[in-house]
Amino acid sequence: MSTIDNKAVLSFTDGTPSLEMPVYKGTIGPDVIDIRALYNKTGKFTYDPGFLSTAACNSTITYIDGDKGELLYRGYPIEQLAVNCDFLEVAHLLWNGELPNQAQKNEFVNHVTRHTMVHEQMSRFFQGFRRDAHPMAVMVGTVGALSAFYHDSLDISDAHHREVSAIRLIAKLPTLVAMTYKYTIGQPFVYPRNDLSYAGNFMHMMFSNPCEAYKVNDVLVRAMDRIFILHADHEQNASTSTVRLSGSSGANPFACIAAGIACLWGPAHGGANEACLNMLEELQANGGEAKLGEFIAKVKDKNSGVKLMGFGHRVYKNYDPRAKLMRETCHEVLEVLGLQNDPLFKLAMALEKVALEDDYFVSRKLYPNVDYYSGIVQRAIGIPVPLFTAIFALARTVGWIAQWNEMISDTEQKIGRPRQLYKGAALRTVLPIGKR
Ligand code: ACO
Repeated sequence: MSTIDNKAVLSFTDGTPSLEMPVYKGTIGPDVIDIRALYNKTGKFTYDPGFLSTAACNSTITYIDGDKGELLYRGYPIEQLAVNCDFLEVAHLLWNGELPNQAQKNEFVNHVTRHTMVHEQMSRFFQGFRRDAHPMAVMVGTVGALSAFYHDSLDISDAHHREVSAIRLIAKLPTLVAMTYKYTIGQPFVYPRNDLSYAGNFMHMMFSNPCEAYKVNDVLVRAMDRIFILHADHEQNASTSTVRLSGSSGANPFACIAAGIACLWGPAHGGANEACLNMLEELQANGGEAKLGEFIAKVKDKNSGVKLMGFGHRVYKNYDPRAKLMRETCHEVLEVLGLQNDPLFKLAMALEKVALEDDYFVSRKLYPNVDYYSGIVQRAIGIPVPLFTAIFALARTVGWIAQWNEMISDTEQKIGRPRQLYKGAALRTVLPIGKR
């Protein structure tokens, strides 16, 4: 537990005695007031819908400074990790706390690559889905179903079981995402290849078919790997909090990750990359750059219900550092594919410029988030739009499982149980049906 630095005193006007509460300092970031004694001492709860002012846990994994636009995994800036490491090194960092040396990396990569296949019966499980099901619907089902296949790693009190489950999840998610895609397009599933990198193998499973092997393009594989790194963890966001809350009841890790996937699906969270690309395509179809002014006016009109997808963030009140890196990758990918003049990319650049110069966005500190560019990159690589969020889930699985493990290992961990401000009917009597 962090050291007590000073105290906060809460006083009341209704005669309740005031309450002194400890204040803790983190390594960096805002201090937190420990309100745990509040209910016992005063009979009152705090009210904080959306957790705007509430820290729900201690964590040593990821730190975000939203004002500076800074993101650290275990203390390392995302900009350095994205340039110097591959995804499995970052996964090792998030899971174990440290970047691996060469021998540790070899061992970790070996572990992951030896778990990439899924139980053969999973292929039959897929047959139960409609071919036109949304990939996230399939992912929620198949990842949850892993707990029906891997009983030998479900004892969450055993650190070795937790590690085996984590490795299985990190290893099998690319296989499940690729199977989801192949199922949708009616092609046979492609087995993993352990001689390829994590991202390279994913692209092989996505784009190879029995008649033609996928030719690995290093720039595209590196772009995919960067997408994975940038999405690997992001502190206590909605889906991570969902994983922690699900895990707090003792649910197994596969079920908890399935819950995280369900939460990520929403358009205000992971679903934003899909929503952003759909928005750009619709704008393109309706006049493109010539209609930008009209579109921005709609976004600013609260009654229109239109949002600029890929813009804004609960924590970042500055440029999302991941968006900068994704923008760079976007240029590289479009160049290698000869798509620099891609109309959608040009439209995205023009829209970003207009928004960044508009007082509505400036005054609300609304900047592009990672989803603004990740959709364009994925589309250029050949990933179909509905699969974007599933790829986000694949990458975030490492963060989710590291956060879940941290929670299970925390001696202060309790089942998550928020309270409420009840505003319903007071006590009343049930009348017989004829008298209602
Ligand atoms: N377009 C237009 N206006 C916006 C946008 C946007 N994208 N985002 C926020 N605003 C406005 C709000 O209407 C509000 O205006 P007001 O003060 O006049 O009422 C103000 O900015 C503050 O916005 P909130 O909704 O209070 O901010 P919050 O922190 O609750 O929401 C969120 C953050 C959900 C990400 C929001 O910005 C949004 O919906 N963005 C679009 C979806 C998106 O890109 N999500 C991806 C998030 S990143 C990720 O998951 C990887």
